[in-house]
Amino acid sequence: MLDAASKTFFHLIAKSKTLKKMASRYGMRRPTSFARRFIAGETVAEAIEAARTVAGRGLNITLDLLGESVTNLDEADTATRGYLAVIDAIVQSGIERNLSLKLTQLGLDVDKASAIDNLRKILERAGPAGFFVRIDMEGSAYTDVTLEIFETLWRHGYHEIGIVLQSALYRTEQRDLAHVNALGARVRLVKGAYKEPKQVAHQKKADVDAAYARMMKTLITDGHHAAIATHDPEMIEIARQWATERGVAPDRFEFQMLYGVRRDLQAMLVKAGYRVRVYIPFGREWFPYFMRRLGERPANVMFVIRGIVGESG
Ligand code: FDA
Repeated sequence: MLDAASKTFFHLIAKSKTLKKMASRYGMRRPTSFARRFIAGETVAEAIEAARTVAGRGLNITLDLLGESVTNLDEADTATRGYLAVIDAIVQSGIERNLSLKLTQLGLDVDKASAIDNLRKILERAGPAGFFVRIDMEGSAYTDVTLEIFETLWRHGYHEIGIVLQSALYRTEQRDLAHVNALGARVRLVKGAYKEPKQVAHQKKADVDAAYARMMKTLITDGHHAAIATHDPEMIEIARQWATERGVAPDRFEFQMLYGVRRDLQAMLVKAGYRVRVYIPFGREWFPYFMRRLGERPANVMFVIRGIVGESG
């Protein structure tokens, strides 16, 4: 119950323009600011620096230029150009070439064709440079269209892309996982960060977890470079055991975690010989992402309050 309540609360806050403005004033002001625990900075240079530090610990990375739900095509165009510049900066820097992005950032809410066009522009620059691009999954209103766009591009020969599926949604286990596996595409499995209605999603954490464990097993044995994206030690233990029992070598799948979350677990897995990829978000549009992280773990709120009190003093 607390899970659902805190998710709802932080999703409401995520939409507040006033709070977003206030947070922008404090959240990223100094290297010690509270949001920096989860967000690498506002510039690509800061993200690249964070990526180097993370890679120095034996971890893999994916960079995410934050942004979502743009409301006009100019903003979508700005985001697209932002990604093109990020691609160039990554190439110049020599860090690993791996990106994550959201379709509503590229204009999906405004005009689907333009969003597809923008994504193609990004893939045309990223593909020849050897990037892998992961399309994040947003709220359930976007599941169909996101999968449809993904599949269309896949069938047009864009194979250096991957998708995200959420164990919270009933449809994932009923059809989407099998469908994407049959395409031969790469899946990142997550529990799901959005508040969803009971008509489409499990409401109890235990049910989301159980579905996650079942689908994770399928992905490890039948998937293609499965990405097990969770900080949940129980899920990670099940994955490790399952892979060992089935003879699936650690280089055939990877764990993924968010920047600043469970760094201890990240290090432990690397030490044990697993591949772990850290999702490194950056950019000026960090507020909704940050609020979703707080909604997942209300204990983080105390961490933020301590940060704000410390900074305004
Ligand atoms: P769960 O929430 O059950 O937590 C298990 C344990 O993990 C907690 O007890 C705590 O120890 C730790 N933990 C979890 N979240 C924490 C936090 N914020 N701060 C500190 N500790 C925390 N979602 C989505 O809908 N679409 C997407 O595209 C993505 N993409 C994505 C990429 C990657 C790399 C990751 C790791 C996650 C996502 N997610 C996502 C988010 C995902 O759906 C989910 O909301 C979070 O990962 C939290 O769920 P967990 O599986 O980590 O476990």
